[in-house]
Parts: sequence; C-alpha cells; structure tokens
Amino acid sequence: MINRRVVLAAHVSGMPRESDFRIDAVDQPPPGEGEVVVRNHYVSVDPGMRGRLSGEASYTAPVPLGDVVGSATVGRVIASNNDAWPVGEWVAGAFGWQELGLSPGGRGIRRIPEGPIPPSAHIGVLGIPGLTAYFGLLDIGQPKPGETVLVSTAAGAVGSAAGQIARINGASTVGIAGGQAKCRWLTEELGFDAAIDRLAEPDMAAAVARECPDGVDVFFDNVGNSLIDPILPLMRQHGRLVISGQTADYNLGREERVGLKNTRSFITARLKMQGLVVFDYAREFSKAWTELTGWIQDGRLKYREDIVDGLESLPAAFVGLFQGQNFGRKLARLVS
Ligand SMILES: NC(=O)c1ccc[n+]([C@@H]2O[C@H](COP(=O)([O-])OP(=O)(O)OC[C@H]3O[C@@H](n4cnc5c(N)ncnc54)[C@H](OP(=O)(O)O)[C@@H]3O)[C@@H](O)[C@H]2O)c1
Repeated sequence: MINRRVVLAAHVSGMPRESDFRIDAVDQPPPGEGEVVVRNHYVSVDPGMRGRLSGEASYTAPVPLGDVVGSATVGRVIASNNDAWPVGEWVAGAFGWQELGLSPGGRGIRRIPEGPIPPSAHIGVLGIPGLTAYFGLLDIGQPKPGETVLVSTAAGAVGSAAGQIARINGASTVGIAGGQAKCRWLTEELGFDAAIDRLAEPDMAAAVARECPDGVDVFFDNVGNSLIDPILPLMRQHGRLVISGQTADYNLGREERVGLKNTRSFITARLKMQGLVVFDYAREFSKAWTELTGWIQDGRLKYREDIVDGLESLPAAFVGLFQGQNFGRKLARLVS
C-alpha cells in the first residue's frame, strides 16, 4: 500500500503559506502483530495546529520538518491483525494529514458508534472542538440561566458549539463572527440572541455594549488579547473569561502581540480568567459525548461542516482559517 501525506516542508513563520507544506508518498507495510491499518476518510484543519509548526516547543511537541501535519481523523479499518478491530469498522483517531494510519494494538483509535450521526461529526461537534466548547463553557464559564454569554469566532467549530451549549443552559448568547452570512446563521438557525459582524464593526467595545446592554457574564474567547482587552470593562461583577484559543495571535511574534491594559476590571468586577487544554478532561469525555449526542438528536445542538476535497486542498484550507474563510468545522474529505 502507498500512503500519500502532507508533510511540513518549512517551519512556519508569521502567516502560514501553502509552500510551507508538501505532499509525499511512502510505503505502508501490511499490519504486523496486533496492528490495525485505517484509511482516513476525513481529516481536520485546526488553527491550534499552528503552534506546533514553527519548530518551537508548545504544550505539545513541535512537528519536525518532513513529518506529517497532525490533525484529527476519521476513517475505516482496511487491514487488521487484531480481532478487536475488524476490517470495515469506523474509527476516529489522530493520524494527521495522510491517507492511511497505523494503530499498534488499537491504541489511539476509538470506535464510532453506528447511528444517524455521520462519522465526520465525530471529529467536529463530537470531537475536540465540541469537547472544548463543552468543558470550557460548563466547567470554567459556568453560565447560569439569565446570564449573558459572549462567544468569539462563534460561527467556527468550537464557538458555534459553545454558544449553543450556553443557550441550552438558559443563558442569553451573543456571538462575534466575520461576515453577514455567518451572523445570520447564528441568529436565524442556531438561536443566538444576537450576532456581531467583526468585519463591519470598527469599535468592538461599542458593538458589544450595544448587544449586551447589561454587560457580559461569561466571555468564551477564541481570538486573543486584542479582543479580550476591549471586553474587560464590559464584564459584569464576578464575570468569567474562558481562554479557549488565540487564533489572532498564533501568527504573531511575541513583540507583535497586543497586551492587556484594562486589567483593573479584574479587581473592580471581581473577574476570573482561566484557560483550558481539553485533553485534561479526557476521563470525562464519555459523559460529554452522551450529553452532546442527546442535544444533537433533539435538535438543540446544530453543526456545520465546511469540506474541501483531497490532500492537495489542505495547505490552502489551513491558510484560509486565519482569513476567516471557513464557515463551521473545516475538514478535508480524502475518500469520496
Ligand atoms: N484549549 C483547547 O484545548 C482547544 C482545543 C481545540 C481548539 N482550541 C482553539 O479554539 C479556537 C477555535 O478553533 P476552531 O477549530 O473552532 O476554529 P474556527 O473558529 O472554526 O476557525 C478559525 C476562525 O477564527 C477566526 N479568525 C481567524 N483569524 C482571525 C483574526 N485575526 N482575528 C479574529 N478572528 C480570526 C475566523 O472566524 P470569523 O472570521 O468568523 O471571526 C476563522 O474562521 C482556536 O483558537 C483553537 O486553537 C482550543
């Protein structure tokens, strides 16, 4: 078997470029003792991957030059030397941007339950994005009925789930997204109370003050300091800031990043700000899957996938994340 892959051709500096990646092909030997070979049908495209591509240490190891770019994957077992993982079974894994993945003894893969929810959702709303929204919002944000939850990149994979989970928990929900189509989706289809088009609002503090007239109780942020700073004075007493991601900062050098000036609000409004690494909640994932699945099935949690075709599309899809080109969970389909 031949395995085609997208590998890192150059360490990324500043905004990623398509030329930072290249496609190669390697032999995939048949599975050895206990091994399982998976053909990836969908692979994810994640802004958080940017931190591993510059060659610097993050909370996960950097991707060495020539290595496969990491991502979530979902696919089917195509060759198996392991009775627990029969050929044909759908599994989710983290094999990255490549056609095939090898699991020793079933490690690193999980079975996808059969049912009406399509396999791709298991690396989206039921994958790391949905789990990040779930634990970030419920464990750190802790929204209460009647409170106001503000969510950034609200039409993205994490943000769209976070806003809907806030709503399910009785909070009023305001999303920030780039463009009118995304904002319409939030209010007309996902039930957000209001949406702010970041591309049409020169003064974000004024826009948030307008849409959240009583202030913000929970701010679930995926953007970074340039957005957090203007929101700080708008936080209500005992407000909580959930630091989920920093998409606007990932491509900036340390000196280029904006700092926080409005930190006095932490004292005057008794605020708390906390970040999360979703994998810290791994022991609780099954509880979250049960609840998220229930919400999808009863129609309260909707999701959108933005799918490109083929390995060749992946570098441009990744670059596009930082230009707001994705609308929902960005995926590449490798098997049609
Ligand atoms: N903490 C964790 O454990 C964890 C786990 C998974 C993901 N995350 C983080 O969650 C965040 C969201 O991930 P996702 O997969 O759901 O991505 P996403 O929101 O679906 O895609 C990225 C979006 O970010 C927005 N954006 C891009 N550049 C921007 C800029 N310069 N300023 C403001 N907004 C910008 C764009 O949306 P608009 O144009 O619509 O604004 C773009 O569509 C990421 O920061 C990711 O690293 C954290």
